[in-house]
Amino acid sequence: MSYLSTDKVEHHFTDVVIVGAGGGGLRCALQLAEADHRVAVLTKVLPTRSHTVAAQGGINASLGNVLSDHWHWHMYDTVKGSDYLGDQDAIEYMCRAAPHIVHELEHYGVPFSRVEDGRIYQRAFGGQSKEFGEGGQAKRTCAAADRTGHAILHTMYQQNLRAGTHFFEEYFALDLITDEDGCHGILAWDIAQGQYHLFRSKAVIMATGGAGRVYQTSTNAHICTGDGAALALDAGLPVEDMEFFQFHPTGIAGVGSLISEGVRGEGGYLVNGEGERFMERYAPTAKDLASRDVVSRAMARELKDGKGCGPKKDHLLLKLDHLGKDVIMQRLPGIHELALRFAAVDCVKDPIPVKPTVHYTMGGIPTNRFGEVVYPKGDDKEVLMPGFYAIGEAACVSVHGANRLGGNSLLEIIVFGRACGNRVMERLGSMRHHHSVDPDCWQPGVARVERWLAGSKGGDGVRIAELRDRLQADMEEHFGVYRDEVTMQEGVERLQAIGADMSHAFIDDGARMFNTELVDALELENLFAVAQTTAASALARKESRGAHAREDYPDRDDDHWLRHSLATLKNGKVELDYKPVKLKPMNVESFEPKARVY
Ligand code: FUM
Repeated sequence: MSYLSTDKVEHHFTDVVIVGAGGGGLRCALQLAEADHRVAVLTKVLPTRSHTVAAQGGINASLGNVLSDHWHWHMYDTVKGSDYLGDQDAIEYMCRAAPHIVHELEHYGVPFSRVEDGRIYQRAFGGQSKEFGEGGQAKRTCAAADRTGHAILHTMYQQNLRAGTHFFEEYFALDLITDEDGCHGILAWDIAQGQYHLFRSKAVIMATGGAGRVYQTSTNAHICTGDGAALALDAGLPVEDMEFFQFHPTGIAGVGSLISEGVRGEGGYLVNGEGERFMERYAPTAKDLASRDVVSRAMARELKDGKGCGPKKDHLLLKLDHLGKDVIMQRLPGIHELALRFAAVDCVKDPIPVKPTVHYTMGGIPTNRFGEVVYPKGDDKEVLMPGFYAIGEAACVSVHGANRLGGNSLLEIIVFGRACGNRVMERLGSMRHHHSVDPDCWQPGVARVERWLAGSKGGDGVRIAELRDRLQADMEEHFGVYRDEVTMQEGVERLQAIGADMSHAFIDDGARMFNTELVDALELENLFAVAQTTAASALARKESRGAHAREDYPDRDDDHWLRHSLATLKNGKVELDYKPVKLKPMNVESFEPKARVY
């Protein structure tokens, strides 16, 4: 690493800078660092606190260790799960790569649970089938008990330490350094020291995770604030399919903490206030293991119909006591602890109160299957943004389309983290020097922080905490599991009012070092940018598909809406465009859209 200091901004020259130290960022970094490239990973938290650590149930791969399986069946399930909005070339690539990727993780040291003969343990998860839906339930999710993300993240971090990746911990990414030739670096702020850093780099990779914190109740960590999407929007790039936010059926009611789908994979099931196993009515074959959008809608319908549990009839119950203490403590120990701490329930004896809770951002920065950021230019033409890449939940390579299958998120981050690392390596081969940059390129990023510090005296403005509460409540109320025109239009207007108040928002703390209120303010800016694109894309999509369920347009409309939305921000206003879904896989035949039944 080289350093050239100026008064205000410390300069760094690296081959690659990766923003985000979750599983995707770390798998990508490992690929590059092992090939002796200079890799800087910037992360706003300590690497092992990245949100991958919270992934519970597992990672999908058609290993066939418990029941027979095939990558093509996995592909079929993923396309169907996506409600046919997934790009089939990327889905084929991911599902084919999965078995190799999981064995590679095993060899890196991930402590997977085991079946009796020593192979990796696999459990059932939602939307999994055999023989293209004809052969019953598959068991495809490779698990390390119910702490799979924790196991993968720690292993990846340790491997990166071995490989010599450079970590810049508690650095906040402020601005992409771009010009007409592409992306050449990033400006970041060292949260602890209050110093600005310009990272000049031949490749910039966004691995910043999702934006689940645009909603009030979420399984996401507070750090999931859509930072990558907001940086891309600020650079004039579009974000794709932002109307599709996944509600996980089983967040702890009123709290949001995730209760893994692995509970239902091991045999747990949902009951309503009448003690009825209601999923049998909504998904007669798959029942509680239908895909997440189907289960969340069924739960929301039961609650609307007054069939909830508890004095307020505001949640449902997840029953697992019949699994027995041994299975629970061996396969689901984390769930047992979470239920005790956050719901005061011993799930060996009693059911857990649950509710559909925001869990995953299907949309993100548009990429091809090598992690290269793509955007439309001219008629129907897609071009690359040279030097700019995105992976994992920050990206939309569109393997999840309108609804992600459980267990495909850990898979996506590892498959495309690795693929992106390989593509960057190819590109680095022909790049001997860093691209020149405007000597003042750091100024917009610095101004972003200085504006907040300068206004920290208050006055008659609005506190950022109030604005964040309003934003999250608005999204929850107006862009939830079920949507309609009137409710969403009202939500858009509320967002506009929040936007107006953003211009005179203030923070109290004027300190330069470890100013967490300033971090909150920067995150609020990012959340607001994301929320605007979600609201506009959702209002415009006049159909129901996957996680976007409109009561006023209850059917999927392939004639008009089998297309991805692209949202850009121009002068604070959202502009929408669309692009076709890639229905053609690489080497096999397309799965043509058909009715989705579970
Ligand atoms: O339910 C879960 O364990 C979550 C898994 C996932 O979102 O992939």
